[in-house]
Amino acid sequence: MTKKITVTTFRKKKEKGEKIIALTAYDAPTAKFAEECGVDLILVGDSLGMVVLGYKNTVPVTIEQSLHHCAAVVRGSSKSFIVGDMPFMTYHKSIESALNNAARYLQEAGVDAVKIEGGKKMAPTVSKMVQAGVPVLGHIGLLPQSVLTSGGYCIAGKTEDEAKNLIEDAQALETAGAFAIVMEGIPANISKKITASISIPTIGIGAGPHCDGQIQVVNDILGLFSDFTPKHARRYANLGDEIKRALTEYTKDVKNGTFPNQDESF
Ligand code: KIV
Repeated sequence: MTKKITVTTFRKKKEKGEKIIALTAYDAPTAKFAEECGVDLILVGDSLGMVVLGYKNTVPVTIEQSLHHCAAVVRGSSKSFIVGDMPFMTYHKSIESALNNAARYLQEAGVDAVKIEGGKKMAPTVSKMVQAGVPVLGHIGLLPQSVLTSGGYCIAGKTEDEAKNLIEDAQALETAGAFAIVMEGIPANISKKITASISIPTIGIGAGPHCDGQIQVVNDILGLFSDFTPKHARRYANLGDEIKRALTEYTKDVKNGTFPNQDESF
């Protein structure tokens, strides 16, 4: 039995140049599979809204929905480090409500840390959370919770100004005490610079190969989400096709009376 992964594990991995393996999961069996396959960090992402709950973006996800799935992932794992992704508007209204909501993730769902989106602007909130004992994973670059104000999912850091801002965002989160930073939708050369400019690990999604770790949405890489496949998501399986094949056979067998047979009956 290997030891439970903690924030210290991630810092040591960066120091040793060992990649951090991260993945999303939303239920206990998937968390168990991920852990058994060597995933260090499981994020119960608010991507939950799109890939599981059927919303068209992450904005409608509520804290109750998120906590429900976080608790399931915690039950399915023992060693991986579990991060709850705080949904839209659950950490913006005031520092006090952000702290209250963050506490629910640790106390009710039992996760090891929370993630919030945003750089410099969120640094004071991150700082208060960390001072209160809540480990925080930052998230910069493409911020899905801002899709309504940005007008779409755009790659961040394409201009010199944007790149400079991203480096400042990462440094502000490090100073505020975040234990690592997710970098989403950032050109590879910029995320390389950011990764070299901070001592906490960077975990990329659509941010090239130079980050200290990688994260993907499990449904994307397993072929379980067919609305669209992001350019950065490599397909390791086509489980959607496999499910359709199996369910077509099941409906056929029920229709023609070959299911259940004698062995499947009492
Ligand atoms: O919600 C999510 O799955 C995420 C990842 C894309 C990092 O935030």
